[in-house]
Amino acid sequence: MSTLLFYNFKGGVGKTTLSVLAADHLSRSGKRVLLIDFDQQRSATRFMEAGYGKIEVRQPLEKALHDNTLEKSIVNIDKNLDIVPGSWKISLWPTEVEKIPQPVRFTILRQAIDKVKDNYDYIIVDVPPSTSTMSTNAVFASDYVIVPVPAQRSGADALADSITYLSGLKKDYNLSFKLPGFILYLVAKNSKPNKKIAAELREKFGEAVFANEIYNRDRVQRWNDNGITHKQHDSHDRGTHAMYSLVFHEMLYRMGDEN
Ligand SMILES: Nc1ncnc2c1ncn2[C@@H]1O[C@H](COP(=O)(O)OP(=O)(O)OP(=O)(O)O)[C@@H](O)[C@H]1O
Ligand SMILES: [Mg+2]
Repeated sequence: MSTLLFYNFKGGVGKTTLSVLAADHLSRSGKRVLLIDFDQQRSATRFMEAGYGKIEVRQPLEKALHDNTLEKSIVNIDKNLDIVPGSWKISLWPTEVEKIPQPVRFTILRQAIDKVKDNYDYIIVDVPPSTSTMSTNAVFASDYVIVPVPAQRSGADALADSITYLSGLKKDYNLSFKLPGFILYLVAKNSKPNKKIAAELREKFGEAVFANEIYNRDRVQRWNDNGITHKQHDSHDRGTHAMYSLVFHEMLYRMGDEN
């Protein structure tokens, strides 16, 4: 079992979209997947609800974390695909655990995941864009942290800062998570400024940057609103899935997990 986290503390860089589509692709390829919506925005839950209908909260995540197991919070939504739905109330949780000393405070999610991890091949955690008790819990729970980075000036800066934060945690707390690489997100496929920054990032970070990239595709918005579809005769469905599929294959390859 591996826990995956798409992380960048910059907002709106495609973290949730990658988390939801990775859950979709991996579960469809026969892997048992749990998606944990650890974000008060509930974006991953809303994305899944667009396709699967309303997802009832069986037990709120904050209660599950208090009880030290996610078991009662898990909802099955498709073959091989489970979710722990999100709630705005999770935003109150950091205050609730504030008195628990570090680093124990950062291990709460990991402990709750440990109780259910044997049921899954992949657990994917979706977090808000921040460096907070929540994101630190997610990093502590992760085996792999993949950083999506928009090919924009601000994206390059956020990448440098995110790496500093992640390597700081790794060093300070002796964590064993791996960084398989950075995924470039080109907001406009043929924009010259985008391409220039993408080239600069490749130059600077070399092999750490994924060969495969994510582009802006209208189909992603449609899936967000109406649910993910896999229509073979629809070139937009096929093309957009193919784009994400290449990225996920490369991710598994980099993780040494191709099969
Ligand atoms: N490849 C894509 N093509 C088109 N739109 C996309 C793509 N990826 C993400 N988006 C859109 O960009 C917006 C932000 O994406 P997403 O919610 O995945 O980012 P995020 O990093 O999780 O944001 P936040 O930091 O708020 O959690 C969403 O409206 C999403 O639908
Ligand atoms: Mg998000």
